[in-house]
Amino acid sequence: MPPTDTAVADKADAAPGIDSVLDWPAETLPALTTLLALRRRWMTDDFATLRRDYEAAVEHAGAPADQAEAEPLVQSLPSAPRFQWMHRHIQDRTWALCERIVKDRAPEIAAAMAPSDSDLGRLEGTEGFAYPAYYTFDYHRQDGGIWRDDAGAAIYLLGARIVHVGRNSDFQLHDQFVDEIALEGEPQTILDLGCGFGKTTFSLKRRWPGAEVQGLDLAEPCLRLGRKMASARGLDIVWRQADMERLPNADDSVDLVVITMVLHELPASAIANTLAECFRVLRPGGRLVMLENRLIGDPFRDTLLKWYSQLIDEPYWEPFRHLDLPGMCREAGFTDAWQDKWYIAGTDGPAAEADPRRWCTPWGRTTAVR
Ligand SMILES: C[S@@+](CC[C@H](N)C(=O)[O-])C[C@H]1O[C@@H](n2cnc3c(N)ncnc32)[C@H](O)[C@@H]1O
Repeated sequence: MPPTDTAVADKADAAPGIDSVLDWPAETLPALTTLLALRRRWMTDDFATLRRDYEAAVEHAGAPADQAEAEPLVQSLPSAPRFQWMHRHIQDRTWALCERIVKDRAPEIAAAMAPSDSDLGRLEGTEGFAYPAYYTFDYHRQDGGIWRDDAGAAIYLLGARIVHVGRNSDFQLHDQFVDEIALEGEPQTILDLGCGFGKTTFSLKRRWPGAEVQGLDLAEPCLRLGRKMASARGLDIVWRQADMERLPNADDSVDLVVITMVLHELPASAIANTLAECFRVLRPGGRLVMLENRLIGDPFRDTLLKWYSQLIDEPYWEPFRHLDLPGMCREAGFTDAWQDKWYIAGTDGPAAEADPRRWCTPWGRTTAVR
């Protein structure tokens, strides 16, 4: 049952203020605005310069047929090294700033993360949890990753706001994605796989307050942070440390599984295992809905997206974009599966995607029916 208004107010009062502890300290705002401006400039001016160089080269050498043909051409452009360097530089400066904030606030963060009787929901950790080999690697160039300690989870939360250029600080992207999930009837049990600290999990619980919502992830620090943030929002959620390749849930016990921005971090074999697990735990008629990057179909921009992932140390992202995810869902047993283009409201859209002179982050929503 969702908590009453009074219970929520009591819990929020008792919570140690995780959101305010993880806000930007005033003295870091100049560094933050500089980083955001650099990132915006990289996506606009630096991108436009590269595109102009590319169009000049294509006029001379002819248009490449596909991404494989485009890549050496783009790499040979005079503005390519700067474009690549800027991306990695912004990424490393992002983590440096977030690490500094978290280090300076270590005692406050530790106090805010400490378990309390007022915490809502529950957290199921596993002693001696065995991580898959592909996971214990510093994804996104975040030193130490998000799974070793609470500081890693806090740094990840701050950094994600910069990566989304301030457009997802209240998780509005995740709210939109969840609000647009089409379902017949009210789901009773919902899983958010690879939930991190709970962006999608919060949205799911808000949309379906009567359902049991479970957030599952390998990173226990993120689950701890998620529970604290959920408690401050009055959201009663079950947090479970689990590997999505081996779900702890029973067969035919779940109505909806959601996976956002996770599968691109997994090798193809782990994705196949995950899809098989989703099929196993879903009830007949249940749905799996996933949000991921996809190919654009423009050899130039697809080359840049490949670089984008490689420069921030995402080893599986590029091969992932070339996988047939709906086909893999059908192989896992789903009766139907399809992918559609998905756009963030008010920002990217079909017009931006159709315009080769604009940077575009192409999102795809894949839906599979059990
Ligand atoms: C980029 S984050 C995405 C978090 C969140 N879903 C979102 O939309 O912001 C990827 C998450 O997937 C988790 N993850 C990666 N491999 C996993 C696995 N095999 N099982 C469970 N979680 C996994 C990571 O720990 C991380 O929290």
